[in-house]
Formats: sequence, structure tokens, C-alpha cells
Amino acid sequence: MLILGIETSCDETAAAVVRSGRTVLSSVIYSQVARHAAYGGVVPEIASRAHVEVLPGIVARALDEAGVQAGELEGIAATRGPGLATCLLVGFTAAKALALRLGLPLFGINHLDAHVHSVLIPAVDGKPEVAADFPMLVLTVSGGHTSLVRLEAPGRCRAIGETHDDAAGEALDKGAKLLGLGYPGGPILEKTAAGGNVGAIAFPRGSSPEGHYGFSFSGLKTALRYHLQRTPLDDNPATLADVAASYQEAVVDALINRAEKALRHGDYRGLGCAGGVARNKRLRDKLATLADRHRVPLHLAAPEYCTDNAAMIAALAGLLPDQAPYRAEARDVDPTWPLGTVD
Ligand code: KG4
Ligand code: ZN
Repeated sequence: MLILGIETSCDETAAAVVRSGRTVLSSVIYSQVARHAAYGGVVPEIASRAHVEVLPGIVARALDEAGVQAGELEGIAATRGPGLATCLLVGFTAAKALALRLGLPLFGINHLDAHVHSVLIPAVDGKPEVAADFPMLVLTVSGGHTSLVRLEAPGRCRAIGETHDDAAGEALDKGAKLLGLGYPGGPILEKTAAGGNVGAIAFPRGSSPEGHYGFSFSGLKTALRYHLQRTPLDDNPATLADVAASYQEAVVDALINRAEKALRHGDYRGLGCAGGVARNKRLRDKLATLADRHRVPLHLAAPEYCTDNAAMIAALAGLLPDQAPYRAEARDVDPTWPLGTVD
């Protein structure tokens, strides 16, 4: 099935064309970061207006780069939730209109399910076959969500652990803000941390009771605030690098610890990681070590499909075109749609 995907749940305006849920013919992403930077975070009203402004051009480019005419499409997919209501409305309404105009089926895709399944999209340079690697443990880490997910098979996933407060990406973004590094914090913090000593400051990793896989990051952010009050940054860039590296390490270790616990207690045959934070090199390296230690194949989402994109939306629609909750003709956006309700 040749599907056009649209993603507007937050501050990326994206469109993509994907064949058969696997072959990405184009993936165009317009990042609104510059429009929100001055506010230190996403302003929903600015985001939705920007979606309205740029979406038609982004869709046209996605078709153009794929070399596909609108008349050749076989389905339209858009993120239906979760996300910012006014932002979801822009993309989903556009998708509804296109589907109606072209007489095509409409798919309303769950953004979090799409992140989880993004580990199945083959990278440009190819990927090992994933068929034998279920059930897979997929650490899904983004700016708004942090979950450990059991992916039983394509289309069947459920969270076994979630964050009780901040998401991992949010913790990185807030930490970077406290360090005066700007927005979005994750990638800037990663650069700043390069060469820093990960053991310079012992930030808390948190813990969860036996049999539980929950996360909590709000204490870590407070620990950083207290540290900076006690020991203000000096002009030496090495000091900043040490603090950034130690803070990033605490976030990464908290994620790795929970994943390790789940691998130890579960029957997982594969390990995956998806979402914006999955771009982080330190996290990717530590996941590789973890997968080696537990002798399970590793399926990291390709970096271009980690942060928000429409390829993962079109791919999931193409992978599971018969999944009832994704058939969306008579549905509306759902800003709080939880992960894994496709069963
Ligand atoms: O998946 P995503 O694009 O949007 C959400 O659905 O939330 O994730 C954005 C998050 C932000 O918190 C950003 O700081 C983080 O992903 N991020 C990173 C990196 N690149 C993006 N965090 C750590 N290292 C990175 N290289
Ligand atoms: Zn996302």
C-alpha cells in the first residue's frame, strides 16, 4: 500500500510517503525549533499556526521527493493522538480532507505506537530481519513520554513501565535550561558533555520496587539545581562539560537500569529503542553493551526516525492497514490516547 503520512502532534510539521509499511520513499520534516526557542519550550498556539502555514508545502515536497502523484496514493495517514490538541487538529483535518477528496482510506495513527514500531523500519543501509525477535523490549524515550514497552508482535504492544513525572527528554531539556544551554536541551547537552567526566558528580538514578519498571526524573532536576547553588559554574569549560556529562549519564543510567531489570525478569528475544532521546550516542552505546550482555539482538530506530517524523506514521498504517483503532473515517483527534490500545 502506498501511503502518505502526516505528523503534526507537537512542533515538527512532517509528511512522508512510504510503500508497504517498509520502504520510505520520502520523509520531509520542518522543525519549528527556531520559532519556539525564545520561549524555552513549545508554545502550542505558535505551533498550530505554523502547522497551518507550512503543511501544504511540506506535503507537496514529500510527494515530489517520492516521485509520486497524489492520484497514485492508496491511503492517507495522520497522527490522531496523543499530542497538543490544536496541533493534532491541523494535520488530522488536512488528512481527512485529502482522503475525502481522493476517495482513499484514512488512518488515524497513535504517535506512541508509531515511535515503538519505528524500530522495524529498515535503515537506509539495511537491518537484520526482525521476525524472530519478538517479544521485543522497546525503550521509548521522547520529550513527552518515557515508557518501557513490550512489543509482542507488530500491532501488539503495551507499556510495562512509565515515568511518574518528567519524561527523559524533558529531564534533559530542563537540565540544559538550568545550565543555560538553550533549547532543545538533549542534543546541546550531548555536545556539551563530550569529553566531560561522567563520574564527576554523583547525581541520583532513582529506583523502582522489584517487579516495577517506573521512572522518575524530577528528583534529578532538583539535584542539579541544588548542585549549582552549592557549586556555581566557573568560567572553565571543563567544569560545564563535567556537570553536563554527569547529568546526562544519570538519565542514561536510569533508562538502562530499568531496561536491564526487565530483560532479567522477562522472556524478551530482542531489545529496541525509539523516540527523540534514542538519538543520544551514549544511550545507544550503553544499549549495545546491554544487548550483548543479555545476548539479544538490538534494534535501534535509525536516527532519522527517532525524533518526530511522518515516515513512522505512514509506515505503521502500511504495516497494519486492518487494525480497527487506526481506521479513522468517523473519528476525531484524541490528545490523551495512550500507547498500545491497538489490541
Ligand atoms: O520524539 P521527539 O522528537 O518528540 C516527542 O515526541 O517528544 O523527542 C524530542 C526529545 C527532546 O526532549 C530532545 O531534547 C530529545 O528528544 N533529543 C535528544 C537528542 N536529540 C533529541 N536527547 C538526547 N540526545 C540527543 N541527541
Ligand atoms: Zn514523538
